[in-house]
Amino acid sequence: MNFAIVGCGFIAKKHAEAIKNIPDARLVAVCDRVPELMKPYVEKYGAQAFEEIEEMINVESIDVVNICTPSGKHASIAELVAKSGKHIIVEKPIAMTIEQTDQILEATNRNNVKLAVVHPNRFRPVSMKLKEIMDKNLLGKISHALCLVNWNRGQDYYDQAQWRGTKQHDGGVLMNQAIHNLDLLLWYLGNPLEVFSMEATRLRNIEAEDVSIGLIRFESGVLATVQASTTVYPKNYEESITIFGEKGTVKIGGTNALYLEHLALEGIEDSKIDQIKKDIKTDPWGTPGHQKIIEDMILAIREDREPAVTGEDGKKALSLVQAFYKSAKTNELIKSQ
Ligand SMILES: NC(=O)c1ccc[n+]([C@@H]2O[C@H](COP(=O)([O-])OP(=O)(O)OC[C@H]3O[C@@H](n4cnc5c(N)ncnc54)[C@H](O)[C@@H]3O)[C@@H](O)[C@H]2O)c1
Repeated sequence: MNFAIVGCGFIAKKHAEAIKNIPDARLVAVCDRVPELMKPYVEKYGAQAFEEIEEMINVESIDVVNICTPSGKHASIAELVAKSGKHIIVEKPIAMTIEQTDQILEATNRNNVKLAVVHPNRFRPVSMKLKEIMDKNLLGKISHALCLVNWNRGQDYYDQAQWRGTKQHDGGVLMNQAIHNLDLLLWYLGNPLEVFSMEATRLRNIEAEDVSIGLIRFESGVLATVQASTTVYPKNYEESITIFGEKGTVKIGGTNALYLEHLALEGIEDSKIDQIKKDIKTDPWGTPGHQKIIEDMILAIREDREPAVTGEDGKKALSLVQAFYKSAKTNELIKSQ
């Protein structure tokens, strides 16, 4: 399967390495407006370089295009790629607005191409273990959940590129960082019913929020609290999700939500729980999530099925972020669509 990458910045390196690690995949083309950024990909992977996406998509041998440009450009590029009949892996967030997202979904449906959104945290061993616990209903009826992302992104991070921290092309901590955790909450707890949120830009010189605190009521009746920030001194402090149920309590946590920090399940002995925790600890990252997303796309094409993380999943996570933003702006409880 032949892959191409558009946007050769920070995250593109992970895509290229993941493609290299998959025996069935090859990176054949890259595209960036800045020619120097493409050199390593030409030298290391033998990819062909293009400054314009319009030229790159004419390369017939490309099967899948991975979109790694600033978030505000995902939609216009995805539309072009879909029209060329190539499948798409798009970085998160799927787009910046619901209108842009619908433009992508419409183009991929009309041209009958597959679309996957990069929410790689779903493939971490601990995230999958929690999904298994939820799917087997081991916690019983859930009362509430807590989601924390207290991280550090210094001013130098935002000053790396003009698009960072802008409302049009990036968003703040919710859209850029915590969207992964909101995606996990939706995966575990189902559709949200209503949202209330407050946000602020406290310590970074950016247009969007650097701290956000919100509440979600899910359709199931479960309540959740979300706290996200990029203001923590001096480095990333915590990323966690805790779910409280009538028959169990689970916390995935650590600095990057890689570990099972707490697990109590009715009828399960401590020794078994310790073993589950230990197993995850021995390989907390597992196979890198980007590789899993790309492997899954290859299988989705071969088996003609939907990818594991669909465009609709990307839209749900974005809609939740948008509901938080709307609530913070209007100071009102927002009903989720
Ligand atoms: N899944 C994750 O864990 C993760 C992590 C980081 C970033 N991201 C996402 O990846 C995307 C890119 O982030 P980044 O940190 O790599 O940004 P970046 O600024 O480092 O790279 C973006 C690249 O896109 C190029 N570009 C811009 N417009 C283009 C165009 N029209 N055609 C071709 N190239 C173009 C730029 O020159 C730049 O090299 C964002 O959507 C971001 O949210 C995801």
